[in-house]
Amino acid sequence: MLDLKEVTLFIGTGEDVRPLLSDVSVSFPKGHFGAIIGPSGCGKSTMLKVITGIAPGEEEGSIVWNGRDVAEEDFSPSEIGYVPQFSIAHEELTVRECVSYAMRLRVRRMHSKALEEAVGNVLEEVGMAGFDDRLVSVLSGGQRRRLALAMELVSKPAMLLCDEVTSGLDPQSEDEIVHLLHGLSRTEGRVVLSVTHSLRHVELYDSVLVLYEGVVAYHGPPQFLTHYFRAGDAQDLYKQLEVRSGKEWAQSWKKHRQAFAETRGGRDLVKAVTFDSAGAESAPTVEIKPDAPPDSSSLPGPGAISQFLTLLSRRMKIFFRNRAQLALQLGLIFGFPVLVATFAWNGLPTVKNLSMGLGLDVVQQLVEAKEFLIQSSKVGSLVSGIVMFQVVLLTLMGANNSGREIAAERLIFEKEKLAGLRPLSYVAGKAVFLGLLVLAQSLWMGLFVHYVCGFPGDLAPQLVFLILVNAAMTSVCLAVSSFLGSAEQASLVSIYLVGFQLPLSGAVLALPDFLGVLVRPFIAAYWSWSGVLQTLKGERYYDIVQMVVQTALSPAGLCVWVLCSHIIIGLFAAWIGCQRRSLV
Ligand SMILES: Nc1ncnc2c1ncn2[C@@H]1O[C@H](COP(=O)(O)OP(=O)(O)OP(=O)(O)O)[C@@H](O)[C@H]1O
Ligand SMILES: [Mg+2]
Repeated sequence: MLDLKEVTLFIGTGEDVRPLLSDVSVSFPKGHFGAIIGPSGCGKSTMLKVITGIAPGEEEGSIVWNGRDVAEEDFSPSEIGYVPQFSIAHEELTVRECVSYAMRLRVRRMHSKALEEAVGNVLEEVGMAGFDDRLVSVLSGGQRRRLALAMELVSKPAMLLCDEVTSGLDPQSEDEIVHLLHGLSRTEGRVVLSVTHSLRHVELYDSVLVLYEGVVAYHGPPQFLTHYFRAGDAQDLYKQLEVRSGKEWAQSWKKHRQAFAETRGGRDLVKAVTFDSAGAESAPTVEIKPDAPPDSSSLPGPGAISQFLTLLSRRMKIFFRNRAQLALQLGLIFGFPVLVATFAWNGLPTVKNLSMGLGLDVVQQLVEAKEFLIQSSKVGSLVSGIVMFQVVLLTLMGANNSGREIAAERLIFEKEKLAGLRPLSYVAGKAVFLGLLVLAQSLWMGLFVHYVCGFPGDLAPQLVFLILVNAAMTSVCLAVSSFLGSAEQASLVSIYLVGFQLPLSGAVLALPDFLGVLVRPFIAAYWSWSGVLQTLKGERYYDIVQMVVQTALSPAGLCVWVLCSHIIIGLFAAWIGCQRRSLV
């Protein structure tokens, strides 16, 4: 039984506060099939979001599910299924894969054969069995809605909320889906609420809730709908609604709803009443639904590690399916190191020693010293520049790796969170996937430049600093992605973060002292550049570089420590960002 008691939802702040829903009091008994109708913008989707717990704004009143106030104890993931108005799934996956991953994320691990069978059954149920190998990207609007429904049915929820799942369907598909939803409410004692604009098959619903300007204008059996609104037919109803304001409809309904007495105890009845707004006399008692069978037992959810493995495998599959993304990654991994190496394709120039004036006159000594200075400054700048170039390109790859990662699929993630996905499993899945990318990018960059340019110093610690800077930028941008509302915003901010790296690192021009102290902790490029240059200690190049750069280098240990802090803080912030509720 779902009870909404005087539910009001306010949006806005200060003087702009306005209600999206006002004083909505309705109940839906077990096994109930309810329609929610009303003109566009009247609050239908908002009402489903309020029930689901994802509505924006301040809520008043209470929502009680089977005697439990959901404000105190949320719906458990297997209790509720929500098919949003605009269905969402990963475009790169097939229909079967989407349902299979949905099942693995929501239901405790099962053997692959049992899983295949269960997925097949759900696809059969929604009439998508013939399309199981089709990619989501090529599905029609109606097929997408069926898929969205299938993905909710995997956990056999005790309550199913559907937002316009029949919109845009041809009449036959609409018939099939409405009958399917009706059947779902009958076979498992499930509460099924369906927002719709279509009043075809209105007789199949146990009740129709009419919302108008955020208020309840009617909630009762479909038989009395046209009568109550003095509408010639059901389609005429929308015109009739405009005759009064929302406030008037609400007052009128408050007067009459008393007459709709619900009795329970074996059967749910709606007693018909006298509708004075419609000028009608009393109508006979109408039975709206037979005894509902008991709820199916709720299915246990999978563990955190199982969800992590499922997400990782799905992310890898999507990565390899997306040809454009794959080509871009390969281009970056192989192209960027070539770009760096072109500056010293035949190796670094050697710096000749000074002959210390032996057998030379003063003029020759000055000429030699001048040449030495010019040469060392060129080689020092080249060594420092090659390191900074590698570092900046790796930060660019880092931003590209993760800037869009969460923001681009936020709606899917929010839905999955509702269905029991743990933010920790989600972020861990992302961290491992991105970690593999970071390793491939940084190792190839370091090895290529080392061998092609004959870059001096210890290779192993250099690779560590290159990996760390890429990982630091990747996890900071992952955090950005988890906080911003759209993929475009997130990737723009990520690119700005990269843009600041070079000027604020002090590698090209020294920063004013106060600015250097202030910003350096945040500039990953400085710590990696400094760390790599420290690995040249003991080499002649180290002294030459020190002569050229105007910014002091930091000890290698400190560089590792700061870069690791960036990674940890970035991942932690991403986890916080993922726990935050983003609106769907
Ligand atoms: N996050 C939000 N902030 C401000 N206003 C909102 C927000 N979400 C919805 N609204 C407003 O609330 C009203 C109800 O929106 P809702 O999406 O519930 O309408 P609806 O009845 O589902 O309409 P439709 O039939 O077009 O889907 C609209 O005027 C909408 O602009
Ligand atoms: Mg809507």
